[in-house]
Amino acid sequence: MRKLPQGLKLGVATAAYQIEGAWNFADKTPNIWDTLCHNNPESISDGTNADDACKSFEFYKRDIDMLKFVGVDFYRFSISWPRLLPNGFANKISEIGYEYYNNFINELLANNIEPVITMYHWDLPQNLQDLGGWANPLIADWFGDYARVLYKLFGDRVKMWVTINEPKQIGLMGYGMTRMAPALNATGIGEYLTAKNIVMAHARSWHIYNEEFRDTQKGVCGITIATDFREGVTDSPEDLEAGLDAIEFEVGLYSHPIFSSKGGFPERVIKRVGARSAEQGYPNSRLPEFTPEEIEYVKGTSDFYGFNHYSSKFYTRSAYKPGTYAIPSYDDDIGADFTYLDYEKGAVPHVTVIPHGIRKALTWVKDNCNNPPIFITENGFGTFGGLKDATRISYYRRYLDSILDAIEQDGCNVVSYTAWSLIDNFEWSSGLSIKFGLFEVDFDDENRKRTARASALWYKKLISTRMLDSNDDDIPELVEHIF
Ligand code: BGC
Repeated sequence: MRKLPQGLKLGVATAAYQIEGAWNFADKTPNIWDTLCHNNPESISDGTNADDACKSFEFYKRDIDMLKFVGVDFYRFSISWPRLLPNGFANKISEIGYEYYNNFINELLANNIEPVITMYHWDLPQNLQDLGGWANPLIADWFGDYARVLYKLFGDRVKMWVTINEPKQIGLMGYGMTRMAPALNATGIGEYLTAKNIVMAHARSWHIYNEEFRDTQKGVCGITIATDFREGVTDSPEDLEAGLDAIEFEVGLYSHPIFSSKGGFPERVIKRVGARSAEQGYPNSRLPEFTPEEIEYVKGTSDFYGFNHYSSKFYTRSAYKPGTYAIPSYDDDIGADFTYLDYEKGAVPHVTVIPHGIRKALTWVKDNCNNPPIFITENGFGTFGGLKDATRISYYRRYLDSILDAIEQDGCNVVSYTAWSLIDNFEWSSGLSIKFGLFEVDFDDENRKRTARASALWYKKLISTRMLDSNDDDIPELVEHIF
């Protein structure tokens, strides 16, 4: 048995597109995932979409009942940008969108649950995508205007803001690949344009909070970065270098401009992309530069490090042969090949169970990002379903154990922990087939019956006792709890 540190806050998370449904209710306009799922259903492994999802727009009070049942300190959820601002721009606020989120926040507070709002969890208004989306530098202003609306409407009651969830997934998978909306497949270009614009948009929204709202609202505002750990497969100098390059491309690209003392993109990324771009005949590096003013504008613009972590990957120096990659290519720029090694796997390949990886990732953040307060904004395990989810409980237990090591032995400043996710939901390109919920959702039932899994009961007990047990066989007895 291990005692959780006093004051460590425990919560759960979801995101608007993954749970709300009501995709075209009232004046809501389409987002980039509506477009992808409707126009290219073959992009989603089971052909589903999130038109209805968990119907949380309709049944949000039941979600709150579940949060109460588990006893969480806070709930991290996201706002659908085109539900609140149907034009994408801040010239029109939807009455219905406003009322929905306003009631939701009030209801959480009435039940003593702290609202933690993510402003952007991947559902960009389609009309802004048509103007280039995250590849257009003007998005820093569009996002800033949206953020200001949020602070004005809800900041009297919401004290914790996550600006943007996981820049890498937005830029790499959406612009560099076709795994996520808008599926642009512009590898070697899209990742870097979006990296700069996302960081600038984040900084803009932080400055707006800092200068216009912080004094009166007294909250915190920061970014969430996917911080799965990356390292060499072995300790050979080549593998070590490959691991260092990988973590700078995959994490440092977003954390370095904001959290390091030097600012700007990481040196390793600047060098590698610059050299490859020159070899390929580009007149300039494909990695945009930050001007000295921009470097200063961005540095220090996060009150905490929002840390999402699912697993780790291991790298060797790539055995590049001409013709292996498209030109240009992000993978070629990193120059490192990854493998998952032989660890236990979940239902999605990116979640292999490597508990000590979270400790390494937390200490990497401590050492490379000026020892910030770390809010673990996501951690979780996907399965193919079933109420007796012993593998998920074991994952949570072992990862939390490793987090406690990072806190107690490495001095990482972890303030909160968030389980992903409250309920089964639309798991992006895996559709409805992969389940991350503490609660099962019956997607065949028009009322979307929600049933507590063993993991919900386990997490409830963890929160009430604040003791982490170390026995993997200790699965709570499944008593039926339906919502
Ligand atoms: C995302 C979630 C997603 C989870 C599980 C994270 O990268 O923020 O939206 O459901 O991973 O794959």
